[in-house]
Amino acid sequence: MKKLSPEIVEFEITLSCPLRCLHCYCRAGESNEQPSTAEARSVLDQLKKAGTRYVDLVGGEPLTREDILEILAYAREINQSVMVNTNGVLLSRDLAKELKKANPHILFGVSIDGATPQTCDLVRGRGTFEKAVSALQILKAEGFKVVSLFVVNALNWEEFEEYVHLMTTLGVDGIYVDRFIPVGRGADNAKILDMESRDWLKALKHVNAIISKYANAMRFFVEESVSGEPCSAGKTHASILVDLRVVPCGHFRYDQRFTMGSLREKSFEEIWGTCPGLISTRSRGDECVGCLAYSLAKTGEICMDEVIYGLLKEKQLEKEAMV
Ligand SMILES: C[S@@+](CC[C@H](N)C(=O)[O-])C[C@H]1O[C@@H](n2cnc3c(N)ncnc32)[C@H](O)[C@@H]1O
Ligand code: SF4
Ligand code: SF4
Repeated sequence: MKKLSPEIVEFEITLSCPLRCLHCYCRAGESNEQPSTAEARSVLDQLKKAGTRYVDLVGGEPLTREDILEILAYAREINQSVMVNTNGVLLSRDLAKELKKANPHILFGVSIDGATPQTCDLVRGRGTFEKAVSALQILKAEGFKVVSLFVVNALNWEEFEEYVHLMTTLGVDGIYVDRFIPVGRGADNAKILDMESRDWLKALKHVNAIISKYANAMRFFVEESVSGEPCSAGKTHASILVDLRVVPCGHFRYDQRFTMGSLREKSFEEIWGTCPGLISTRSRGDECVGCLAYSLAKTGEICMDEVIYGLLKEKQLEKEAMV
């Protein structure tokens, strides 16, 4: 049987974080749990062996780890491509230089959740917009490739075009667009950040239209939860949580039915190869349309993402009208 290598594996290397963002699915900052340095190195080894294209180091805030340079240097040593997602608040020019020495090939993703400080700071906390913009500039000046990370929510979707203009001015190498899922602290703050299905449909249509409009001028990395492409959870994407459980996507963390296994008991290749779990998203996902995690969060079932159903239905109608 052909070996199926994951495209992207998110590796949550800490739950420690100086921020308390309203939407944070992993409730970062409420615990400082993290795998040891030896465990982090072993996970990187296993992901490399499994043929993982990109390891996305997430958290919590990855830059809170004292051994972050060691981990990144190790990824370079074994020739594993890595991305680091960061809120940018701990980044200084000196740290950027150290990071460059440790691993010059890191792709950075800096979270900025609005085109204005008002919007971004509402979700991420006061001063976060300014600090993230400054981090982005420092990383660019140091010669790193940097994308910005935008999570669409009820407060920020209308300023997405303004956001694209701002990121173009800042010279980012791309914009990664994701969608708010009411999980963790996000569930506590759903009244502020979530929307009714018909409003989500309007928001996603708007965001997708802006993406098409600027597709020649900016590189977009659009999550399936926004584009309506088939969900990759458990197929080409997995997440490794701080306790080293493997789940198809990080948003499934609170529902034990989706735990595929633990790296404290089995190797990544064993877990990934067999894809165990009460409900395997790899097989069930084929019957479903939309973001399985959003559906689960809203309905307790993985196949009922009304927003993407609506989006695809409208796209189909538009296609038919053109014929
Ligand atoms: C958990 S953070 C960890 C890395 C870093 N601290 C940061 O904020 O970029 C990783 C990404 O998940 C996003 N995220 C957090 N909670 C989310 C939620 N409920 N729905 C969708 N994305 C979320 C963040 O905005 C960020 O882009
Ligand atoms: S989203 Fe990132 S910066 Fe915000 S609390 Fe969670 S881990 Fe921290
Ligand atoms: S469950 Fe949703 S957020 Fe996770 S990979 Fe699938 S579409 Fe993306």
